[in-house]
Amino acid sequence: MEIPLLDLRAQYMSIKAEIDEAVKRVIDSQYFILSPEVSSFEKETASYCGVEHAAGVASGTDAIVLSLKAAGVGKGDLVITTPFTFFATAESISVLGARPVFADIREDTYNIDPAKIEEAIEGMGPADRERLKAIVPVHLYGQCADMSGIMRIAEKHSLSVVEDCAQAIGATHNGRKAGSFGIAGCLSFFPSKNLGGFGDGGMVVSGNKALIEKVKKLRVHGSGKQYVHEEVGFNSRLDSFQAAVLRVKLKELDKWIEGRRRIAGIYNDAFRDIPVKTPLVAEGNDHTYHQYTIETGDRDGLGDFLSGKGIAARVYYPVPLHLQPCYKDLGYPAGSFPVSEKKAGTVISLPVYPELSQSKVDYVAGAVKEFFEG
Ligand SMILES: Cc1ncc(COP(=O)(O)O)c(C=O)c1O
Repeated sequence: MEIPLLDLRAQYMSIKAEIDEAVKRVIDSQYFILSPEVSSFEKETASYCGVEHAAGVASGTDAIVLSLKAAGVGKGDLVITTPFTFFATAESISVLGARPVFADIREDTYNIDPAKIEEAIEGMGPADRERLKAIVPVHLYGQCADMSGIMRIAEKHSLSVVEDCAQAIGATHNGRKAGSFGIAGCLSFFPSKNLGGFGDGGMVVSGNKALIEKVKKLRVHGSGKQYVHEEVGFNSRLDSFQAAVLRVKLKELDKWIEGRRRIAGIYNDAFRDIPVKTPLVAEGNDHTYHQYTIETGDRDGLGDFLSGKGIAARVYYPVPLHLQPCYKDLGYPAGSFPVSEKKAGTVISLPVYPELSQSKVDYVAGAVKEFFEG
């Protein structure tokens, strides 16, 4: 049996008529940039995330870049984030001329550890402390970081919080949605995300009207009035095709997240008696299982075994960001962030998407158990 990590065709087929109609609507309108389709989707997504405002941009990466810039982060500033994430998180800080300061993650949730953020701040001299502007927590694999702890630290030190929600649309912490805690929440609509478009796309959601107005200006070359540029910005818009497709998909999102939870539950039960660590859902959190990630000492052996059985499994992420070649000059030697470094060698993610049939879920679970039990 062949089981891919994700089956976008199956998802498309389940909503084909509505998607085709939405795409046709855009073609018929010939309105491709910043159309009513985009503003409607912005309103719908803001409402879904429990905030009032949103701005569609070209990608999740741009959502972080534009949010940080709108929050006042620039050249020479420092921004605290996790080393255990997709590269785009730290890259978004670096492209603004700011410097990522890493803080290690928690053992149990893979998300940045508030205690390590405090440590990083306490270890700074007065000059660095002055340049520290923001924290970018990442809600990895579909589960919120400890936003209660992070917001407490941010308030204490007057730092902006820009949430990287690329993997976690719909996730909640104490009943509040990802993206509704900080000054901005950054969504990615990369096709493989829980809410994925037919190409690149992203969005900034926020309760802060001024922040969204700044992002809306930045996404059109720093211009509030046509051909008048108050600052140097970007060309970064969510296009009408993506918005039209995503509006259809947003209506299905909660059902799809439920489907992911159901499969995660089956895996959790199946792996109870084998030596793997299954995902922990921290108290107060609801997990959306963008990834179902387990841990084992023989991660590579398990990956090879599953591959031999036709099952795609993948490692997110094998190299922590402080050890990336381009970040050598940040001066973090191996051993700087032991939890992230350990996880990079033990995690592996299994197929988890709502269209996965019961027999396929059973096949994956059976294969994982077979690897350990023989
Ligand atoms: C944690 C995280 N941050 C940022 C991004 C960047 O999003 P995009 O690919 O839409 O630029 C991604 C996904 O690709 C991600 O997983």
